[in-house]
Amino acid sequence: MCGIVAYIGSKPALPILMKGLKRLEYRGYDSAGIGVLNSDSASIETVKVVGEIRGLDNKIKEAGTTQNSSLGISHTRWATHGEPTETNAHPHLSVGGKIAVVHNGIIENYAAIKKILLSEGVEFVSETDTEVIAHWVSRFYKGDLGEAVLEALKSLEGAFGLAIICRDEPDTLIGARRGSPMALGLGDDEIFLTSDISAVIEHTRKIVYLEDNDVVKVNRAGFTIQSIENRRTVSREMQQIESGLEIAQKGDFPHFMLKEIFEQPEALRNCTRGRLLLGDGNAKLAGLDSSLRELRSIDRIIITACGTSYYASMVGEYLIEEWAGIPVEVEYASEFRYRNPIIGTNTLVITVSQSGETADTLAALKEAKQKGATVLSICNVVGSTIARASDGGVYLHAGAEIGVASTKAFTAQVVVLSLIALLLGRQRRLSHAQGIEIANAINSLPNLVEQTLKLNDEVLAIANCYYNSTNFLYLGRHYNYPVAMEGALKLKEISYIHAEGYPAAEIKHGPIALIDENMPVVVVAPKDALFDKIVSNARAIKARGGKLIVVTTSDCSPIDEFADHIIHIPAANPALTPVIASVPLQLLAYHIAVLRGNDVDMPRNLTKSVMVE
Ligand code: AGP
Repeated sequence: MCGIVAYIGSKPALPILMKGLKRLEYRGYDSAGIGVLNSDSASIETVKVVGEIRGLDNKIKEAGTTQNSSLGISHTRWATHGEPTETNAHPHLSVGGKIAVVHNGIIENYAAIKKILLSEGVEFVSETDTEVIAHWVSRFYKGDLGEAVLEALKSLEGAFGLAIICRDEPDTLIGARRGSPMALGLGDDEIFLTSDISAVIEHTRKIVYLEDNDVVKVNRAGFTIQSIENRRTVSREMQQIESGLEIAQKGDFPHFMLKEIFEQPEALRNCTRGRLLLGDGNAKLAGLDSSLRELRSIDRIIITACGTSYYASMVGEYLIEEWAGIPVEVEYASEFRYRNPIIGTNTLVITVSQSGETADTLAALKEAKQKGATVLSICNVVGSTIARASDGGVYLHAGAEIGVASTKAFTAQVVVLSLIALLLGRQRRLSHAQGIEIANAINSLPNLVEQTLKLNDEVLAIANCYYNSTNFLYLGRHYNYPVAMEGALKLKEISYIHAEGYPAAEIKHGPIALIDENMPVVVVAPKDALFDKIVSNARAIKARGGKLIVVTTSDCSPIDEFADHIIHIPAANPALTPVIASVPLQLLAYHIAVLRGNDVDMPRNLTKSVMVE
C-alpha cells in the first residue's frame, strides 16, 4: 500500500526521505509528498506531486524547500479516500499548518470525526480520511505532541501507520501503529521511522518493530513507546537485521518484473537450500521443527490467502491431499474472515502471503487464532506482521519482490507448499521410495525453470501476435487449473486485458459461447494423466475458431497438429509442473504489457501490499 519514511537526527532530512521514498515507490505510486520542519521560520514546508517520485525531486528544487532541516516526514500514496490529486496527497496539515501527518491505512470512523470537526468550524481542504487525523490531533494539542496523539488516537477506528510532526516541536517525531506496520531504525544520533524497513536498511540494521496500539515519541536522544490503550510505557526488543534485505536493483533488466522472472532458478535454490533430505526422502523445515508432533495429529487443513498467493495455495491443496491424504480447503482470506469458519481441534490453518502484510490475510489469521487454531504462515518478507503473528512458518527466501505482479514469490510459494506436503506425507502415507522420488523432483525444479526461461524469445513472438487482443481465456486441469487462474491474473494486472482462468472442462458449461476467431485461448496441457481429456477440450475451442496457445511438454501429439502456437516446457513430476508451466505465462503477460506500452512494475490502480480491506 502506501509507504512512509520519516527522519529525525543531525543530517539533512530531505535526501534521506527522497531515497527512502524511491525504495518504497512500488508500494504506492499515484502521488507523493514530503514535509520538513523549517526551524528558522517555525513552519512545516510541504511539497506534493501527482505521479511518480521523480516528479517530487524536481518540485522540491523548484519550490526552494529548506535543505538544512533535520526533521521530516514523507509518503508515497495509493489512493483510498479521494482521487490521486496533489491536494489529497500526504502530508496533511492541521488548520494553520501546526501539525503534519502522513498515514497508511484507513480511518473507518473518519466521517463521524469529520462531522464533529466541521461543527467546530474546521475547514477541510482534501477528501481524505488522513486530514481528519491532522485536525483531530491539533484539537487535543496543548504543547505536547505525544500527549495529543495518544489522546486523539483513542477515538480513531480502523487501521493506521502514522508519522507526525509539529511546527512548535523541532525535536519531536511521533509514530503510531494499529494494523499497519511501522518500525524504527536506530542510527548514531539519528532515528528513522518507516512503514517498511527496506527504506532505511542502508542507514541502519538496528530495527525496533512497533506493535499494534503503540505510540512512539522520538527525539534526537532516543525514544519511548506508550500504549494507546492505557498509556503504559512498553518496551519493544531491538532486532539486528543481518541479511536478506539487500537493496533491490534492476541491474540490466528493463523492469523488476522481468528480473524477478529470471531470478526464479536462484530464488528456488535459496528456497530449497538445506530443506531437502534427499536420502530420507523428506523435507526439513526449521520453522516447523517444534510443531512436528502436533502436525502428526492434524486431520484437516485450511489455507487462506489472496490473489496470487491464493492460486499458489490451490496448488498446495492438490499436493497435500495427494501426498499426505489430509483434506484441504483453500479460502479467500477476505471471505474467511467474515464467515464463521468451523475449526476443529485438529484443524491446521496456513496463511500464505508474499508481503506478510495483506490486511485480509492478517484478519483471517487473527480469526483462526481466535477460534483456537494453530496457524502457520508462508511469507517472503522476513519479520512481516503475518510471520510474527503466526505460531510457526516457513519463509520463501525468494529475495525482495518489487514488481507489483508477483512472479518468483508464486513459484517459491508452490515449492514451499510442496515441501510441507512432502513432510506431512512422510508422516503419513508416503513410503521412503516415494519420498525420495518427490524430494528429487523438487530438487530438480530450479534447473527446469532455468531451461524454461530459454523460451523467452518464443513467448515474445507469440505476444507480438496477440497484444492487441481484448480478451483472453486460460485453461488448465488438475494441478494446472490454478496455473491457468494465475496466468489470467498476471495478464489482467499488467496488460489491462480482460482475461479469465477456467478449469478446461468447465468451458462447455458456458464460457465456450465466448469463443470466436478473436479469442486467444492459452491451454496448459502437459503430457500427464489428463492429457487426452484436455486435448478434447482444446479441439472444441479450435472447432469454434479460437486461437490456441498451448503450453505442453514434448511428445504432445496430437495437440501440435491443430494448435496455433506450441510452447514446449520441460517435463517435471506432474504434481510440480505448475512451477514450470507458470513461467511462460509470466513471460507472456510481461511481453504483452510491454508491447502495449504499460509500466509493468507499477500497473495502474494496484499496489504491492494491500494493507486495507
Ligand atoms: C499478485 O500479482 C498480486 N499483485 C496480488 O494478487 C497479490 O498476490 C495479493 O495482493 C496478495 O498479496 P500477498 O501475497 O502479499 O498477501
